[in-house]
Amino acid sequence: MLDFIKDKKRTHYAEKLSKQDVGEDITLMGWVHRRRDHGGLIFIDLRDVSGKVQIVFHPENEAIHAKAGKLRNEYVIAVSGKVVLRDQQNINKEMKTGEIEVEVQELLLLNNSEPLPVQINENILAEEDLRLKYRYLDLRRDKLKNIILIRHKIVYAIREFLVKRDFYEIETPMLMKSTPEGARDFLVPSRVHNGKFFALPQSPQIYKQLLMIGGFDKYFQIARCFRDEDLRADRQPEFTQLDLEMSYVTQEDIFRIMEELFKSIFNKVINIDLPIPFPHLTYTEAMDRYGSDKPDTRFGMELNDLSVIVANSEFKVFSGALQNGGSVRCIVAPGCAGYSRKQIDILTDKAKHVGGKGLAYVKYQDGEFQSGITKFLSDEEKKNILKKTGAEDRDLILFAADKNKIVFKVLSEIRNYLGKELKLYDLKQYNFLWITDFPLFEYNDDEQRWETAHHMFTLPKEEHFKFFETGEYEKIEGQLYDLVCNGMELSSGSIRCHRLDIQKKIFEVLGFSEEELDEKFGFFLNALKYGTPPHGGIAPGIDRMVMIMSGAQSIRDVIAFPKTLQATDLMSESPAIVSQKQLDELGITLTTKTQKHEEK
Ligand code: AMO
Ligand code: AMP
Repeated sequence: MLDFIKDKKRTHYAEKLSKQDVGEDITLMGWVHRRRDHGGLIFIDLRDVSGKVQIVFHPENEAIHAKAGKLRNEYVIAVSGKVVLRDQQNINKEMKTGEIEVEVQELLLLNNSEPLPVQINENILAEEDLRLKYRYLDLRRDKLKNIILIRHKIVYAIREFLVKRDFYEIETPMLMKSTPEGARDFLVPSRVHNGKFFALPQSPQIYKQLLMIGGFDKYFQIARCFRDEDLRADRQPEFTQLDLEMSYVTQEDIFRIMEELFKSIFNKVINIDLPIPFPHLTYTEAMDRYGSDKPDTRFGMELNDLSVIVANSEFKVFSGALQNGGSVRCIVAPGCAGYSRKQIDILTDKAKHVGGKGLAYVKYQDGEFQSGITKFLSDEEKKNILKKTGAEDRDLILFAADKNKIVFKVLSEIRNYLGKELKLYDLKQYNFLWITDFPLFEYNDDEQRWETAHHMFTLPKEEHFKFFETGEYEKIEGQLYDLVCNGMELSSGSIRCHRLDIQKKIFEVLGFSEEELDEKFGFFLNALKYGTPPHGGIAPGIDRMVMIMSGAQSIRDVIAFPKTLQATDLMSESPAIVSQKQLDELGITLTTKTQKHEEK
């Protein structure tokens, strides 16, 4: 069998064949995708990484025809034969190679296959859990395969672009010190030093800054990052960033290089010409207009602040929110005045799901406000609401009244839902924008302490340094920026604190004691003392880039071997218990014993 492969060698890939190859003697290797017996003639769609081509077995060639009759789906075969044109009436317009077929002269069965537990068919999809268990089979599906190939092209295009611009690709450690960086760390126990732990990097943030101190000037890495956090449709515990850092740069320099990078990748990989430069919105403006710091700007439906208009409202929900220092805002759902009770309930549930107490509404129909909270609104208020919102006949107005934080969450959630539901945008549109001027700190009400909005290594705006002295931390804005596309945060970055004194002030606000600082970040603070060049960077999430460029709805579709939402790998059944011997070597005693350990 292997002699055949040695002698013959594969000459072509299935879907690369075309009319140009008619008359050629060729050899293909791949899977039996589908087999049809047509009273004598046997047709097989042979599939390889490139796609499919039809191969034909004539009854005259008895031995081979008999062998072909025994082939089943997903058997692995090698065939040699001649490329021929199909008759006009047999041309298959659905197939890329539908004008030709291969008349088989030699057939070798390289391996058989048991009947598959999941079908390789876009139209009959098994449950996702089953597909994840047999991920290697699911990867044979065109859709997944094509996404993984797009991912490969994106990474290749990134490397090509950056290397040409004098960036160096440098690896940083996977085993590092656990440092508080936002999410929870994945810990790795040390066998050599029992009781001590490494952490897997949440990102190479500290190392890339150390590389700037180490003199490399421009760095990048296709970096694996690990975060033990609650998963969502666009989050995995293990994901990949294009991590990037440059010395002697301003925010604008980072914007330029990123815009050119994205333009180049979109052009090369999906043949789309992105207009650059990307527009900018400040954080405050984004929140005010869209209720989100990652707004989907493919459609309008912007928020309207009605706080002044309903300042003296009879409606307790409104007046109560205003008295509590909150606001009353609304969005207008175009043409939705006909929404049923049930549809409104769905919206209200969504509002409650993100922390809202409800979702007041009015339907604007035939020049009148109808249903909902109409009875609470004076004529003057109605007139002003119409004027402010520009609502038109048959629109539905949806109100949120609460603390700003909740109002924004509720209305941006509803806005995103309705944008999709009402198909307010073109799926082939890519709206990139920079969000800038973020506050450096956010106050965590629950824990009564200051946190950083991005991360603690960001340089504040110089004109805001003075607020460290006055204690007005909420007024300090950072030199930090997000790149957003179609409502998804694609990248975050910042200009870093290259000055030790400012870095220390940030740590102080965050509440680190001298000892804690020394223990957790001593090595890094020390490094800042020795001629640190000003530097800054950014890190686009590669998984999310692939989602946007391939149209994938789930992050699991863009990773060859992803984890489930419960952070498990169904294929290898991990995480899994380990032997007592392994635990003993690590000096680990389990307090919550798994069933299996107890049985032992
Ligand atoms: P940040 O934490 O914002 O910044 O991450 C940058 C980008 O990484 C992607 N990302 C994720 N993708 C998938 N699953 C996750 N769990 C996940 N978490 C983040 C997002 C995000 O925009 N060191 C800084 C970057 C810097 O300042 O240079 C950082 O990691 O696309
Ligand atoms: P209630 O007075 O609680 O019966 O609410 C009257 C209407 O106001 C309902 O449509 C609720 O969904 C809505 N509602 C209640 N609380 C809020 C709120 N904080 N913001 C917006 N609408 C609300």
